[in-house]
Amino acid sequence: MSFSIIGTGSALPKTIQTNSDLTAFLDTSHDWILSRTGIEARHICIEESILDIAFTASINALENADINPKHLDLIICPTLGGDTITPSLACLVQEKLGATCPAFDINAACSGFVYGLDVADAYLSRGKPMTILIIAVDAMSKLVDWTDRSTAVLFADGAGAAVVTNGDDLKSIYLSAVGNQHALDIPWAKGNHPGLSEKELPIPYLIMDGPEVYRFAITAICDDLRRVTRDAGIALEDLDLIIPHQANQRIIEGAAKRLKLPMKKFVLRVKNQGNTSAASIPLVLDDLNRHGQLKPGMLIALTAFGGGLTTGACVLTWSK
Ligand code: ACO
Repeated sequence: MSFSIIGTGSALPKTIQTNSDLTAFLDTSHDWILSRTGIEARHICIEESILDIAFTASINALENADINPKHLDLIICPTLGGDTITPSLACLVQEKLGATCPAFDINAACSGFVYGLDVADAYLSRGKPMTILIIAVDAMSKLVDWTDRSTAVLFADGAGAAVVTNGDDLKSIYLSAVGNQHALDIPWAKGNHPGLSEKELPIPYLIMDGPEVYRFAITAICDDLRRVTRDAGIALEDLDLIIPHQANQRIIEGAAKRLKLPMKKFVLRVKNQGNTSAASIPLVLDDLNRHGQLKPGMLIALTAFGGGLTTGACVLTWSK
């Protein structure tokens, strides 16, 4: 096993949208959203571009790691998409940082940060010294249909970053994918070729079967946490902290109950951040790091699930 996290960073857009703000244009209520999801407010990119928050989170992580961008060997951006299809978000971050290394995006939806860690681990397993920036960024506000109350109230925008290098923090990691377009789908524009008829053009916004994703998520968290703790040679109870993808408080409570683990082991930030997709886990990691809540030797599990459908989980020791 082959990496250590040497720095973290994050960024949230300035505009905060509360549940009450949503009632101005959606048939919903603060109480419905809070009781079904645990969400009270979320940050939305209005003034900022996706690149702006990606860049700020990257700079924060590089400063925290004391790394000059020119010394980066690779930039990986887990994201559903940046401001442009090409250049990739990773390339635009690379340019703005003044870095010169290869850079690419990966799309594993909300599991993207754990997928990014696994890709970094694979590069580092080559044995060459490398410093890698993983910058997980999503602007879900640009992908949801703001007339659909069943999805618009859940999602939000943010960026979370980590700098990793050769080390031995990673104890086990597991990724999975089960292709399923019905559960969660964000269609793409199909172009304007004159041969296409109007009815072939999809609505380019997120469509979700909420109850199906809900069931999938609880099972995924439980199965993946059991697997990665077993692979790391530890018991679930040995974990000091679990950082789950911040989709919905009820999903996390459901998983904790099924695993018979106390909620205090699970870090929850969904209340003021909503579901920021790939950014949700590194946003929490950075918050804990900056508030001195991660102590050397702590055993931490990350567990994510999302569109694809994908899942990813790992066990780390904190050494920074
Ligand atoms: N405000 C008020 N009422 C609403 C709202 C809303 N925002 N949204 C839906 N409702 C209504 C529905 O219309 C329905 O009304 P009806 O019974 O008259 O038909 C009722 O509330 C219940 O709807 P359900 O969908 O059954 O509500 P449920 O308790 O399942 O909660 C939720 C819905 C919150 C979406 C839940 O299914 C969930 O959390 N699913 C997981 C979603 C998720 O986390 N997705 C992201 C993970 S993947 C990723 O991160 C990319």
